[in-house]
Amino acid sequence: HQAMPDQAAPARSAAGDPALTDALQRIVGPAHVITDPAMLEGYVADRTGRWRGTTAAVVRPADTAEVSAVLACCHDAGAAVVPQGGNTGLVGGSVPLHGEVVVSTSRLTAIDNVDPVGRTLSAGAGVTVAAAEEKARRHGLTLGIDLASRDSATLGGIVSTNAGGLRMIRYGDTRSRLLGVEAVLADGRVLTRWKALTKDNVGYDLPGLLAGAEGTLGVVTRVLMKLSEPAGETAVALAGIPDVGEGLALVRALEHAGLIIEAAELMTRDGMRLVGDHLRLRAPLDVDAPYAVLVEVSGPAVQQDALLSVLAGRADAVLDAAVEHGPARRLWQYREAHTESVGVASSTPPVKLDVSTPLSRIEAFLGELGPGLSEHFPGVRPVCFGHFADGNIHVNLMDVEPAQQEAITDHVLRLVARHGGSISAEHGVGRAKLPWIALGREPVDLAVMDAVRGALDPARMLNPGLFHWAAAAHRGGD
Ligand code: MLT
Ligand code: ZN
Repeated sequence: HQAMPDQAAPARSAAGDPALTDALQRIVGPAHVITDPAMLEGYVADRTGRWRGTTAAVVRPADTAEVSAVLACCHDAGAAVVPQGGNTGLVGGSVPLHGEVVVSTSRLTAIDNVDPVGRTLSAGAGVTVAAAEEKARRHGLTLGIDLASRDSATLGGIVSTNAGGLRMIRYGDTRSRLLGVEAVLADGRVLTRWKALTKDNVGYDLPGLLAGAEGTLGVVTRVLMKLSEPAGETAVALAGIPDVGEGLALVRALEHAGLIIEAAELMTRDGMRLVGDHLRLRAPLDVDAPYAVLVEVSGPAVQQDALLSVLAGRADAVLDAAVEHGPARRLWQYREAHTESVGVASSTPPVKLDVSTPLSRIEAFLGELGPGLSEHFPGVRPVCFGHFADGNIHVNLMDVEPAQQEAITDHVLRLVARHGGSISAEHGVGRAKLPWIALGREPVDLAVMDAVRGALDPARMLNPGLFHWAAAAHRGGD
C-alpha cells in the first residue's frame, strides 16, 4: 500500500533479535510485548489503508519509568522506535515501516488530576480525547480540542501532531493549550516541564517544540492541558451558499452580531451527496448549492433569533439554511461523516491532503483546483471540506490509482504553495508530505529543525522515517 518511494534511511530493525525482545519483556512483562503477527494488524497499518509496514514488537509500558527503560534498552540495542497513540493519524506518521519497535501509549491512561481553580487537566498520554473531555465536563469545563476521531485519538497523539480539529477557531490548536509535558528522550532520559502557570518565561518553549514534533523528539508520556469554560447555549446553521466568499461574509456577520463562533466548516455539493448516500440521510437543504457551510454559534443572548436574523439579512446570497439548537447533532453528522464516507466510497485508499491558504486565497485555490485535477487526472474524484474560517481545506482525492499518487500530490501541493498556503495545516507532515517539506520551509529553517533533532536524538532512533528530508529535498520549493 505504500504510496511513495520511501524517503527514510533504513531504520535499524530489531526483527529477529530475541535478546531485545527478552529484555523488553523483562521491563514490561511478557503480556505487553506483542510479536504475534495476528495481533499486530492494528499497529502496523494506518486507518486510511495507505500505509502498512512491519514491526519487531509492540511494547506497551505501564508508566513513564517503563517507557524510559524501554527507550534506553532500544537505544543500547540500536533499535529504532515508533511512538504510537490511537493510530488515527492521517499522514502515515505513527506506523512502523521497517521493523521499528512500536512503543504504544495504550496503558498510559490515568487521568491524574483536574484543577478546577487553575483550570488544568493532567493525564497520561494514552487517555483519549473523549475521556479527557468527559472528565473536564464533570468539572464544568472543556478540553477545547475536539475531532471526529475523539474516541480513539489520544492526548499524546494530539500533542505530537499539534491537532487542530473542529473547535480550533474558538479554543486554539493543541500547542496553544499545552501548559506542560513529560516526555522520554531517545536515550531514556525523562524531560519534564510541568508548571500549571499561564505566565512562565524561563527559556525555550519546550512543550511547544514537542507539540507537532510527530514523535521525533521524544515519546510524550504525560500532558498538562489548559481547560476552558464551555459554550453555553449553542445553535447550528447549515447554509447553502454560492461561493466561499459568502461563507466568510456570513461568519463575519455573525461575529458582528455579537455571536461567538464555535465552529465554521465548509462542505461541497459532492461531499454532501456522498455523506447522504453513506448514512442514508435526506438532503438537509431544499436547494442544490455548490457549497454548504456549517456554523455553530454561542452567546449570552437568544442565539437562535440572532442567528436567524443574520441569515435573513443575507437572504440574497444564502440559498437556503437549516437551523438547529441545543446539543442535537443532526446537522453536524453531515460534516463529521465526511472522512468515513470518503473512505468507504473510494475504490482506492483516499489521498488526503490537509492544506491551508490565506483566507483571501481559498476561493482562487478551489477555483483552480477542480479544473486542474479534471484536466490532468480524469477519473479522480476530489472532495474538499474543512475548517474554512481557519483557511484549512481537506483535499480528499478518491479513486487515485497507486501510480498516480505522487503526481497528484505534487500537483495539489504546488498549487497550495503558489497561493501562499501550507502543505500541512493540522495533520502534520508524516510520510504523506515529507517529499514536499521544502515547499513549506526555507533551507535555514529546515537546518535548524534538523539541528534540534540531532541534539536530542543524534542517531535518529525516534520515528526515523519522519522529517528525514535530505533524500526528499528534490521536491523543494519553486
Ligand atoms: C476532519 O477535519 O474531519 C479531518 O481532519 C479530515 C480528514 O479526514 O481529511
Ligand atoms: Zn480537520
